Amino acid sequence: MSKKIAPSLLAADFGNLQRDVEMVNNSDADWHHIDVMDGVFVPNISYGMPVVKSIAKHATKPLDVHLMIVDPDRYIKTFAELGANVLSVHYEACTHLHRSLQAIKAEGMKAGVALNPHTSIKLLEDTIQDIDVVCLMSVNPGFGGQSFIENTYQKVADLKELIIRKNANTLIEIDGGVNANNAKKLLDTGADVLVAGSFVFKSENPTETIKDLKQIIA
Ligand code: DX5
Ligand code: ZN
Repeated sequence: MSKKIAPSLLAADFGNLQRDVEMVNNSDADWHHIDVMDGVFVPNISYGMPVVKSIAKHATKPLDVHLMIVDPDRYIKTFAELGANVLSVHYEACTHLHRSLQAIKAEGMKAGVALNPHTSIKLLEDTIQDIDVVCLMSVNPGFGGQSFIENTYQKVADLKELIIRKNANTLIEIDGGVNANNAKKLLDTGADVLVAGSFVFKSENPTETIKDLKQIIA
């Protein structure tokens, strides 16, 4: 299975959103990563449904929507209607995670679970077979441009072991502080999808940066 790059549009120029979405369309990237923050689950507010709708209108690659919101069950149907392909909810925001996963799948989307840096992958022992994508946060969620937390490598290795042991079909996604220095080691440790925001959009040539990342993990 080919490894994926998912540029995070949180770091895009919102005044030129169509241009930046099209840049991703025409690049070597695999998914559009879309960060929705509510100012409650995380201390920041990013963008909501109207902006996701605008992104969806121009995007030609799968939409990987990362919900950093409380009580995400309220919006599963809405994001399906907006065109999300992968919908990730936070473990810490779900009282009934199994029910949330089933609801996401019932809407025809891939079900993702994001884990904060302090949340152990051991908590997924009983749900891993129901999860299409585990998004390991390698920064505390809420902001782009933070430094990668080194303990993530151990979590990737442990999660990979769990997936194999349970014979699950789950992708491991890494979100936060990803760059050309940690991409290879993450892939070698077991990651499948790398989200990159600042490293892509703050670079001089985002298309080339995506290409470089893709080559590193190829
Ligand atoms: C952080 C978001 C990330 C963020 C990553 O809460 O979930 O997707 O955009 O940005 P960088 O790559 O700049 O750390
Ligand atoms: Zn994200």
